[in-house]
Amino acid sequence: MTTTTRTRTKTHRQKLQGLRNEVHVLRRQLRAAHRLATVGTMTAMVSHELNNILTPVANYAQLAQKNPSLSDKAIARAAEGGQRATSICRAILDVAVEGPAESVPVNILALVDGTLAAMARDPAKDGIQLNLDVPADLTVCTRRTELQQVLLNLLLNARSAVLAVEGPRRIHLSACRRGRYVLLTVADNGSGIDPRHKDKLFEPFFTTKPRSENDSGGYGLGLAFCRHAVEAMGGKITVESAPGRGATFTVRLPA
Ligand SMILES: Nc1ncnc2c1ncn2[C@@H]1O[C@H](COP(=O)(O)OP(=O)(O)OP(=O)(O)O)[C@@H](O)[C@H]1O
Ligand SMILES: [Mg+2]
Repeated sequence: MTTTTRTRTKTHRQKLQGLRNEVHVLRRQLRAAHRLATVGTMTAMVSHELNNILTPVANYAQLAQKNPSLSDKAIARAAEGGQRATSICRAILDVAVEGPAESVPVNILALVDGTLAAMARDPAKDGIQLNLDVPADLTVCTRRTELQQVLLNLLLNARSAVLAVEGPRRIHLSACRRGRYVLLTVADNGSGIDPRHKDKLFEPFFTTKPRSENDSGGYGLGLAFCRHAVEAMGGKITVESAPGRGATFTVRLPA
């Protein structure tokens, strides 16, 4: 090899390394953008819940200012409401802030609990019956923050699908170990998926949630993120659905 060829090869290698570093940084930024987009999707619902918690706290405090005999009750309300608001904020920060970059053992039930806490709103308030079927000792070795975001996106989608229908609204979240895999399933009895849309669901920016004056609609990014994240974890995400009969999303991860 001539000196010129050697110098060129070295320059190409350095350039390649530079590009690899750039891709690494861009991927990190994309993950952060996705996390914030998910938190953005929840903003209206969570703000509403925080408002529901803080309004009685403020009202009792005002009453106690005028009538000191109500002070004890006002303090009890403030302590109770403050604690609940703090745990919601903590759960949201858990979603927003990047967790460990490497795979760690994740207890699925704890992850589900944290995700429901971040959603803040009790499903029962919207007439949604949420059933959990998750063994307490089921763990999977994976990237915690990303798996939580996947779960959050699937639950938010299931929630809007069941809110679109009248009658009994059900979401069933289950997880189990099957051979070398852990399966996580979110099933709902909501609006279901039009067969013409099935192939587009996981494409970025595909949404059937229109934007209006009172509703920020959908961005069509949730499932695109889910597919990207699940495949990066070495897994697969699939969907089964019939229009009007709900949808079932299954995430299969290597155990
Ligand atoms: N559980 C479900 N039942 C019925 N349709 C669903 C369900 N989950 C997803 N979809 C359909 O797939 C589309 C894409 O979902 P995706 O989560 O990617 O975007 P989005 O929910 O519209 O917006 P966002 O970016 O806020 O998540 C939805 O607009 C909806 O039409
Ligand atoms: Mg969505």
